[in-house]
Amino acid sequence: MNYDNLREDRKQAHIENYLLASHKNSNLFEDVYLEHSSISEYDYDDINTKMKFLGKEIGMPFMINAITGGGEWAYDINESLALIAKEFNIPMAVGSQKIAIDRPELSDSFKVVREVYPEGIVLANLGTEASIDEMKIAIDMINADAMQIHLNLAQELVMEEGDRNFKGTYELIEKAVKELDVPVIVKEVGNGIQSQVIKKLYDVGVRYVDISGKGGTNFIEIEDLRDSETDYSEFYSWGIPTALAIINADNLDLDDLFLVSSGGITTASEICKSIILGADMCAGSGEIIKYLLHGGYDAAYNYVKGLDKKLRISMMLLNAGDLEELSHVDFRVIGRLREKLYQPVLKSHSK
Ligand SMILES: Cc1cc2nc3c(=O)[nH]c(=O)nc-3n(C[C@H](O)[C@H](O)[C@H](O)COP(=O)(O)O)c2cc1C
Repeated sequence: MNYDNLREDRKQAHIENYLLASHKNSNLFEDVYLEHSSISEYDYDDINTKMKFLGKEIGMPFMINAITGGGEWAYDINESLALIAKEFNIPMAVGSQKIAIDRPELSDSFKVVREVYPEGIVLANLGTEASIDEMKIAIDMINADAMQIHLNLAQELVMEEGDRNFKGTYELIEKAVKELDVPVIVKEVGNGIQSQVIKKLYDVGVRYVDISGKGGTNFIEIEDLRDSETDYSEFYSWGIPTALAIINADNLDLDDLFLVSSGGITTASEICKSIILGADMCAGSGEIIKYLLHGGYDAAYNYVKGLDKKLRISMMLLNAGDLEELSHVDFRVIGRLREKLYQPVLKSHSK
């Protein structure tokens, strides 16, 4: 097997299979109930969606999350995404840079993001199989503002060629926090991060967590579409719904933990609800890549423009003038989210 090409082909297959995937999970944001405020005390033009992230001001609490990098096709995608990020002054993470570390001739498709968006917040991305030296190369490649380290246990396990040994992950992350010159953001890829894991990550020094919960992109199904040998459909619903994972993480009460809500965040109301539940910012991958590949640059641009507009409308409807006020809006939980939140753990085996 040619492993050089395997990684490049796999990246393309991820995007193709993402578009083909049909299993629907809910992130449970529909079970977060917000009450309409009939009077707004604000002028729409004064609604402030700006916030600080990694020492810079950004236009709204939304980031284009890790998607791709690699060959020529990835160059075009990343160039378009970076142009959109620049237009709205929002951060952008590149996809896993492992491919360019193994084959430096493929690094252009990552570097283009920094070329297009020199002033913006750009995040590097690697998995826990990477060494600290490889992380440093990834950061240098795009002059990154932070290093995203992705946790993709479920994805690896259903991948024929995936990793099987995850011992030493906390130690690696602790080392990364200590030795890298930029902050470390630990993220999932669509199965969510349990609050107990977040606490352990916090204890080894992590201050940025991207929950990437269940309810959006489903890597179990995406990988399953590449593998005809084993049917992994029983795991398509595996994971922690994003809304539940955010509430659980917020309940840890770790004041200096920056929490990113991702995993099926496709609408302005999900952005609002995320902030209200305790997230500091949101991120999305699947929806924007769908707009870009189906409708081209204009469709993806208009999607983000719509998010911005509808976020302002939602804030008016909730009588919140800025993100700080939004974070204090009352909410209720109903339905399955309520059921999951208030179910006692019947047999605890805290580790
Ligand atoms: C086509 C595709 C490729 C992805 N590749 C990466 C990757 O290389 N590294 C990573 O950390 N996450 C990757 N992700 C995961 C996303 O960053 C995100 O965590 C996940 O898709 C959940 O968000 P969503 O529901 O908005 O897509 C990828 C997602 C998609 C759709």
